[in-house]
Amino acid sequence: MRKNIGKKPWFYPLPVLIIGTYDENGVPDAMNAAYGGLYTSSMVEFSISHGHKTFKNIQQTKAFTVSFADVENMTPCDYVGLVSGNDTPDKIEKSGWTVSRSEFVNAPIFEELPVTWECEFVRVTEEGNVLGRLVNVSANSRVLNEDGVISMEKFKPLVFDHATYDYLKVDGVVGKAFEEGKKLK
Ligand SMILES: Cc1cc2nc3c(=O)[nH]c(=O)nc-3n(C[C@H](O)[C@H](O)[C@H](O)COP(=O)(O)O)c2cc1C
Repeated sequence: MRKNIGKKPWFYPLPVLIIGTYDENGVPDAMNAAYGGLYTSSMVEFSISHGHKTFKNIQQTKAFTVSFADVENMTPCDYVGLVSGNDTPDKIEKSGWTVSRSEFVNAPIFEELPVTWECEFVRVTEEGNVLGRLVNVSANSRVLNEDGVISMEKFKPLVFDHATYDYLKVDGVVGKAFEEGKKLK
């Protein structure tokens, strides 16, 4: 029997995106965003409260990075979602992350996070979301397989469960897209 559980923002799987920005003085900031994702093959969109330091920074620098939280960095990834750069300017120091500047956009890369999209700001959508265009993806070689492709089993991205507030890990490969369905053709 199916039950109606109402209008809940329970969407599966939700990513754990870490949005990296600089302020006008070059101070790095990061925030955790679960309401975001791929908009086109080269664009990303996320929902952000306009009071966040991150939003103000994006307005200034017109750039940001999107890294994918991983199991190894769960604690600092959650931390940057709890504390604001508005009142904790040394937030990134406290996170323990090593900052380097993107070669492509005016935004920070956090070296401990192995996979990062480097993006230029496009616009704020009608709904107030931030839309960005991909300029480069950088990845630590420790998460690449022998073909130079990012391996989710090596980098272990986190999944956020909005219903329970748990962080989960991905459990491994079960099949191939565009192949499995052929069994029913
Ligand atoms: C799991 C998780 C998911 C979050 N998702 C979002 C989100 O999608 N959009 C948003 O505006 N804030 C989200 N937040 C809250 C921000 O990350 C948080 O308010 C942060 O302190 C903002 O930092 P800033 O002011 O330095 O930019 C999330 C926090 C957590 C822990």
